[in-house]
Amino acid sequence: MRHLMSPLDFSVKELDSLLALADDIEKNPAKYAHACDGKILATCFYEPSTRTRLSFESAMLRLGGQVLGFSEAGSSSAAKGESVSDTIRVISCYADICAIRHPKEGAPLVGSQKSLIPVINAGDGGHQHPTQTLTDLLTIKQKKGRLDHLTIGLCGDLKFGRTVHSLIEALVRYEDVSFVLISPEELRVPSYIREEVLDANNIPYKEVERLEDAMADLDILYMTRIQKERFFNEEEYLRMKGFYILDPKKMELAKDDMIVMHPLPRVNEISVEVDTDDRANYFEQAQYGVYVRMALILTLLEVQV
Ligand code: NCD
Repeated sequence: MRHLMSPLDFSVKELDSLLALADDIEKNPAKYAHACDGKILATCFYEPSTRTRLSFESAMLRLGGQVLGFSEAGSSSAAKGESVSDTIRVISCYADICAIRHPKEGAPLVGSQKSLIPVINAGDGGHQHPTQTLTDLLTIKQKKGRLDHLTIGLCGDLKFGRTVHSLIEALVRYEDVSFVLISPEELRVPSYIREEVLDANNIPYKEVERLEDAMADLDILYMTRIQKERFFNEEEYLRMKGFYILDPKKMELAKDDMIVMHPLPRVNEISVEVDTDDRANYFEQAQYGVYVRMALILTLLEVQV
């Protein structure tokens, strides 16, 4: 039995197969409509979510399966003091696969250890968000046609943004990938990512503060929200909020075939005027999230279609 805690839990070859499966699902949805008949997905969300939880549920429903779960810790037995480990152990009696999001780093891993069913990390604190990474990889593959030979700009809250941490870890495995890390000093990527992921793999990267200084070089611009809920005080958050706003004027500096991505939710870091630019891909990215989660559920449940 396999769980998904980090994007590195899949080899590059396995990721290729998963993305190819997601592509086939997009093209031939009817073929998969009953692949998970009789199966149940549990979504255990101890933190707010729109896309991740609903795209998981949509994915299971589109495979013919069913869903159950909770969307806030207060409505689960966590409110009575039950451990994540016990909750997931019990949920393994009710479902065939489980996606868990938790504000504490490592909680899904702890939950997986006594689970009888595959557990998927749907985001753990400021740490990892592997299924967003699968979504991002599929988006890049479909839009750029490749996952190698790319310069990726990551902009915003690189310190607390878990989608950024998972995406960097996943992309360093492809050839000729380089990064431009665009953040204020206070929100730089954590040192473990710089040292153990980028430096350890000899990946070229630079760190800049101004988005304007990076735009012209990028094949992909990955915008992120300032992670308000992970700040220690409101004042600090307010100082950082509004640091980056991608607008049509900044888009003029970019290549014609650059793509803009964002895991969403957007607050104010991309002006709505950018939405009609052909290079804006964030809503399609959310759509790809459903196909890739369908592919992931099939893979972890070992369902052959
Ligand atoms: C992201 C997350 O939860 O980390 N959202 C998502 O799952 N698409 C990004 C964010 O909340 O900023």
